[in-house]
Amino acid sequence: MIPPLVYTQINQQELAKEVARNLGTTAITSEQMIGQPHLNLSEDGLSFFHPEARSKNKFKIDFNSGSTGWRIKRADHEKLIKKALGKSEHPLNILDCTAGMLQDALLFLTLGHQVTALEQSEILFHLLRDGISRSKDQRIFEKLDLIHANACSYDVQAKNFDVIYFDPMYPPAKKKALSSGQLEYISKILEIESLKNNAIKDFEILQLMPVRKMVVKRPIKAEPFSLQTNYQVSGKTTRFDVYL
Ligand SMILES: C[S@@+](CC[C@H](N)C(=O)[O-])C[C@H]1O[C@@H](n2cnc3c(N)ncnc32)[C@H](O)[C@@H]1O
Repeated sequence: MIPPLVYTQINQQELAKEVARNLGTTAITSEQMIGQPHLNLSEDGLSFFHPEARSKNKFKIDFNSGSTGWRIKRADHEKLIKKALGKSEHPLNILDCTAGMLQDALLFLTLGHQVTALEQSEILFHLLRDGISRSKDQRIFEKLDLIHANACSYDVQAKNFDVIYFDPMYPPAKKKALSSGQLEYISKILEIESLKNNAIKDFEILQLMPVRKMVVKRPIKAEPFSLQTNYQVSGKTTRFDVYL
């Protein structure tokens, strides 16, 4: 169930109502939601709050802060992804089945590819749309088509994708390793929307799509989803399994 959307500024009432309607929830001004999960609309944009999250900051998608930093910080990751995609004479048409925070999709876009990104969570989809609308760099999103859908029921037929990319949530860590604050927030969002994935089953369905190449992101030590992997590109903590 989508939690209520809290707004504080009266001049945002109309927008709050419209966003709430799109999400299938109600827009309220009450402060009583402070101790409960809720969405928040302010002049800084749309955010999500969960009282049990480790981070006490509301979760929002912000492509402005750190947007110059994210590419530098992820330079190694970018090299691995580039290798996994392989050489190509023309820009690729990529189906990103697991949009998440669009971090990987942004790498594909900066490499010049066309990306259709699917996100099953309605809350995350709206947070992403809000983040994109507030991005100071709109050019980067020109070749992005962001869609609210479960990849397993998405019809790829007419689109002629070159690559399908799958980065499911990692299984909850058994021991100490805590997920990043952002991934923890995504888990909380999925919990609230009762979205439970079986990554292996999703993989099996997605692998049937008529696409030249499938790239799957896995933790370095995890088993591949299938023994039919054609090659692997490994970093320190992450591995890309490539299926042709
Ligand atoms: C680990 S995150 C992906 C992170 C993303 N690659 C990034 O760079 O920001 C997984 C995301 O994929 C979404 N997801 C998982 N399975 C999905 C499916 N079958 N269809 C659509 N979205 C899915 C989850 O809701 C979650 O937001």
